Parts: sequence; C-alpha cells; structure tokens
Amino acid sequence: MRLVSISMLTPDMVLARSIYHNDILFLSAGNADLPRYAERFCKMGIRTVYVEDGVSEGIEIPDAIKEETRSTCKMVLRNTLKGCIAGENVSFKQLNKSIEDIIDEVLKTEDIQVSLNDIGAVDEYTYQHSVSVAVYCLLMGRALKLPRKHLTYLAMGGLIHDIGKIAMDKEIMFQQGSFTKEEYEYAKLHVTFGYQKLSENSMIPAHAKMIAYSHHERIDGSGYPLGKKGDELHLFSKIAAIADVYDALTTDRCYRPKWPAYKAVDYLIENSGTHFSPELVQIFIKQIAIFPNGSMVLLSTGETAIVKDQNRGLPYRPIVRVIKDAQANEITPYEIDLLHKLNITIVESELENRRNNVAGYYPQNMGYAKE
Ligand SMILES: [Fe+2]
Ligand SMILES: [Fe+2]
Repeated sequence: MRLVSISMLTPDMVLARSIYHNDILFLSAGNADLPRYAERFCKMGIRTVYVEDGVSEGIEIPDAIKEETRSTCKMVLRNTLKGCIAGENVSFKQLNKSIEDIIDEVLKTEDIQVSLNDIGAVDEYTYQHSVSVAVYCLLMGRALKLPRKHLTYLAMGGLIHDIGKIAMDKEIMFQQGSFTKEEYEYAKLHVTFGYQKLSENSMIPAHAKMIAYSHHERIDGSGYPLGKKGDELHLFSKIAAIADVYDALTTDRCYRPKWPAYKAVDYLIENSGTHFSPELVQIFIKQIAIFPNGSMVLLSTGETAIVKDQNRGLPYRPIVRVIKDAQANEITPYEIDLLHKLNITIVESELENRRNNVAGYYPQNMGYAKE
C-alpha cells in the first residue's frame, strides 16, 4: 500500500483504504476504477489516497486506530458537539464509548511508530482534526504511563478542544490566505467561547474543559487566552498544544497543502523550550513515524523510493523500496535498509503531497497560524 496524489492515479491501482464523506462511505476499499473519481476527490478537497499497486505490494501502513473507529467517532462527535453548542441536554454515552474504543486501540499499538492516515474532505476538518488530536494526546499519555482515567480526560479534551470553532463565522475561520490582525483576534475567541459552552455541561470532566481553554497557551507565556507559562500550565495543556499544532501542520488546509511529518517535527523541535515542553516534544517524536510507511521519498542518490518499514528508535533511517533511478526512470524495485547504508539519506519526503512549486512550498513565516 502507498499514498499517491490524485493526479497520479492510474487504472492499475486499487483503493486500499475506504473514503468517507460526511460520515457516509463514499468509496470502499477495493475499488479499481480510481481515475474516474479524480475530479470528485479534487472537489471534495482530497489530494491523496491510499492505493495498492505493483510497486507497493507488501507494504503495510500501521494506523493508530481503525478507520471504522475513527469514522464512528467523528459522527458521534459531530452530533454531540452540535447539541452542546445548541445548549441541548445531550447524552455523552456514545462519545464516552468511542473514547474507550480509541484508548483500547491506541494501547494495542504499543510498539509501532504510527502516522495518522485520515483522508477526509476539507469541510470535515474540525472533526477530523479533533479525533487526530485526541489520538496524538493518547500516544503521549501512553508513553508517560498515565492511568486510564487520565487517558479518558486527555481523549475527551482532544475531542472537544476546538468546540468553540463550530459556532464561529466559517467565512473567517476557514478562509483562504492569512488572517488579518482583527480576524486573528476573532479566531482566538474560540477558546473562551468554547469554554463558556462547556462550563454549562456537568457531563464533561474538568480536565477536558481545561484542555479546551488552554491548548493555545505556550510555555514562554506567548500563548492565549491567559499567557500562562512554564509550570503554571498543566501537563495536559502542554500535551494538547503539541498534538494540536502537529496535526494542523500535517493536514491539508484550504490555504496550504500539508507539511511532511519530518518538517512538522522540525517545527516542534525549533520551538521546543519556547512554545512547547522539550521533554514532551521528545516523547511525542518517538511515537510517530517521521517518514511514514507508504510515503514517497527522494534519496541523496537522486533515486525515488517508497518507505517500506521503520527501524524502531531510529526514525530517520527507515527501510525503503527504490522504484525510480536518479533520472526518474522506473526500475525493477529493490530495497535498502538505511540503517546499514549510512552514506544514503532521505533529502525530501512525502513527494506525493507536494505541489509543483517546491521553492514556495513551506511557509517561512507562519503568520497568524490557523491551527
Ligand atoms: Fe484551537
Ligand atoms: Fe485545534
């Protein structure tokens, strides 16, 4: 299995992971007529899909949670949060059940460095993002060996952290381009607005409400809404800040394509000690695949390869399957374990997510970040 850009779909490819749209199955795994759907994918804001083809045969892509679990959770979350915002007396029974399922699945992946493989339409962003933030929080909570009760707080906090966005002006929140200063000030209100809505609800644990209120705080005091710093911040707030930013950066947005995982990891490292807890960033990095299985990479030899597997504890040196030579000619695939070929490095990754203009790909200035 591998991840390919929708512009690269060919008739020999078979869909490897089902695609859901608004909680409904849009295309099931096994579909073999993918080029026909390319335009539809594009309109839905889907830029890449998982496929099986000859060159990717035998490559497995471990996911932290099953796509059914993720899809069910998104649906339950949508109903629960909308009810919450409307001031209805919603039941949290189903959401609590989803949280237990997610925790069970995350705890099972103990020894795997994961990448989250959610392919979704852009209009589902808030729910997709919330589930991913919950999973990333849980991966850190698991590494810290937190008790199960605390894992439920973290998961609930991740799921509801951006609840305030649901009732805000979508024209502003999901526009293309950067925020103006005024728009940014408006967007920041999602934390206080969300917290107000949540505080009325006695079904939600206080720790989860706190995550909704404090996930934009930064350890140097530069965050919002209170500008708390260092030890004034709860462990869960610091965990959620990392999960939130990492997922925002590695997801396609209407105003920019997703960053490769390694680039988002660089961003976390660069901002360790200022925005993020250095200890927690190190723990987080150990849980994720920096060069995810199934992604296309460029080697220092000029060859193109697909990441086949990870070497545990050495995330920069995975096992790769070379599929094109330095002149971009297709070749008979062969594998290299980068652990044993230290003279070869990965110089670029997730090529399938790139747009044509590589030079302008990474924003140098985050401006008023929209995570
Ligand atoms: Fe937020
Ligand atoms: Fe967020």
